[in-house]
Amino acid sequence: MLLEAPVYKELFGAVEVHEVQKVIKLDTQTKDVGSFTVLNVPREDIYRTLEDIAIVVPMRNEKLQLVDGVLKAIPHQCPIIIVSNSKREGPNLFKQEVDLVRHFYNLTRSRIVMVHQKDRGLAQAFQEAGYTEILDENGLVRDGKGEGMLIGVLLAKAIGARYVGFVDADNYIPGSVNEYVKDYAAGFLLSESEYSMVRLSWRHKPKVSTRGLYFKKWGRVSEITNRYMNALFGLATNFETNIISTGNAGEHAMSLKLAEIMPFSTGYSVEPFELVYLLETFGSWGKDSHEEVYDSGIEIFQIETLNPHFHEDKGREHVRSMIVSSLGTIYHSKLATEDLRRRILEELRIHSLIGEDEEPPKPRVMPPVETIEVKKWMKTLEENGETLTRFEV
Ligand code: GDD
Ligand code: MG
Repeated sequence: MLLEAPVYKELFGAVEVHEVQKVIKLDTQTKDVGSFTVLNVPREDIYRTLEDIAIVVPMRNEKLQLVDGVLKAIPHQCPIIIVSNSKREGPNLFKQEVDLVRHFYNLTRSRIVMVHQKDRGLAQAFQEAGYTEILDENGLVRDGKGEGMLIGVLLAKAIGARYVGFVDADNYIPGSVNEYVKDYAAGFLLSESEYSMVRLSWRHKPKVSTRGLYFKKWGRVSEITNRYMNALFGLATNFETNIISTGNAGEHAMSLKLAEIMPFSTGYSVEPFELVYLLETFGSWGKDSHEEVYDSGIEIFQIETLNPHFHEDKGREHVRSMIVSSLGTIYHSKLATEDLRRRILEELRIHSLIGEDEEPPKPRVMPPVETIEVKKWMKTLEENGETLTRFEV
């Protein structure tokens, strides 16, 4: 893969954020490209790294055709972790997903772990680990994408993965999923730190309009989140910045070492919260007990994909609530000033996203999973889970 060389980066304490790097050529071999502004990450290196990346696919009531395409597009070397929160009655979509995955396994012999988010055995595993922050009032795991991701991180750890990457299940272009995973590998290969994260930004996000397909550059949520995320990062250094262009990156990956020391936020606030948390905690020295992180630094890569991102349209209300929960993570940050908070409230009120006297909700945060003894957690899940399925040769 040829990538724009990481020329520009900004430092926030121990957090190093690289400017967006575009994919210039998708597939290359080991050979000098003879250019200083372009970096070659050879296919051989990418393929070696893929084995260490567990791909988590969170899903909730997605079209089976889309799920099928996504699974088939994940490079064969990567173990797949499916965390489903789909309906189990009237109709039982989860059962259809299990059938699809079994068929896919029979054809491909891919390594797959699958579990349902509302499995009582899963809730019991969290309960016994003393990790109740993920449970709802009925003692089951709460709904939410962030919750599904956290389960995915634990399963990735349980199977010994070095990295964990996330891809949404509602993608219409399987080939793009194949690229995303390779982009993750390329990012990890560029990193000099064991604490690394790769966040993808889209070349385009096509929308269907009356004039035909329109290749939008920015989604509405991303445009707003990035603006305020940059304002927050600017406050930390007193230098305005526009370095962040992946505030909402659902498609992203991180080293397990980083994933397990980070708290995860609920639902769709999970991705912006990651950035807020890293800035708050590692943006200045000595706030966290993980001293080695300050020594090695955290590297965040932002890669602009070659493929467009074309996914299911979940409607206006979905987008509106995603803006509110994303801005909530910034609004409630310890680093936000009164002025920034006022601007966020204005933004939300102008678009009638919150009422006149309302604030955006404070993100509900689940502590880092490193506190969970993963072997024990997995054993409880294996013994009591009624939906856990491990497909492997
Ligand atoms: N396990 C699980 N549990 N998965 C869920 C849940 C849940 O409660 N809710 C949603 N998902 C799955 C969806 O089925 C999909 O595969 C993925 O999470 C993303 O959800 P979407 O509903 O498709 O979200 P989106 O497309 O509007 O937003 C995506 O992109 C944003 C910007 O890149 C998400 O990935 C956001 O988190 C991201 O910020
Ligand atoms: Mg989607």
